Amino acid sequence: MTTTDLTQLASRLRVIESIALVPRVSSTNEVARRVIAECFENDIPIPSAIIVAREQLAGRGRNSRRWFSPRDRGIYATILRSMNIADLAILPLAIANMLAHFLRETFRIDAKIKWPNDIVVDGKKIAGVLIEAKTREDEACVAIGIGINLADLGGDAPENVTSIEETSPVEHVELEHATWAFIEFADRTLAAGANRQTILSEWRRLTVHQPGDRIHCIIGDRSISGTWGGIDELGRALIRHGSETVPVSSGDLIS
Ligand code: BTN
Repeated sequence: MTTTDLTQLASRLRVIESIALVPRVSSTNEVARRVIAECFENDIPIPSAIIVAREQLAGRGRNSRRWFSPRDRGIYATILRSMNIADLAILPLAIANMLAHFLRETFRIDAKIKWPNDIVVDGKKIAGVLIEAKTREDEACVAIGIGINLADLGGDAPENVTSIEETSPVEHVELEHATWAFIEFADRTLAAGANRQTILSEWRRLTVHQPGDRIHCIIGDRSISGTWGGIDELGRALIRHGSETVPVSSGDLIS
């Protein structure tokens, strides 16, 4: 992609004002966190931007896990945005909806959501989201990290993962095209916005979880086992355990 192509792409976007393409970083979320820290220190607005890397040397996943990010094998991106703090709780679900729709509409992949925002195809993970936020008064400055596996990650990859190449009927998917398509899709979705009820009902439609499914949930160093009771109005998972229903707002589900 030339500078002219990039300028043309940027001019079509409505929410994302700048695009940073970098060959290699530790983690695009780490770069975004530094930008947020800098804006806080100098009391300046957060840019509405996306940082995309071809490779991450220390890609990070949720719950301190690593995100395997070999060169040109996936989309590794972080969107930087300012939003109202009241919308923060529902953001992970909104981003999961966006990713599932992106994969369904662009690549005809039967992508579903595992709570809160893992994207899976036939039980295998194809994409993940790591959201980090810093707040000032009623403003939340968010770094929305998104990893989408494009191609086979090679021998060192974690088990139970898949990729666009493995699951899409679309042939010859190129990283560059997939990345531009993703940036445009994300921008359109952010520009359209969605209210809480639409986000919740869309998420419920796209999730793999069915009422009564056995669920094992790890929260930090604790874990809860039970059955899936849906999500509440704040997007929390409801784990039924005997006569009790436990709302869980973060954690890892292993079903
Ligand atoms: C997860 O499912 O555990 C979340 C994975 C998030 C990975 C992305 S890749 C781009 C951004 N930079 C990171 O270091 N992590 C996120």
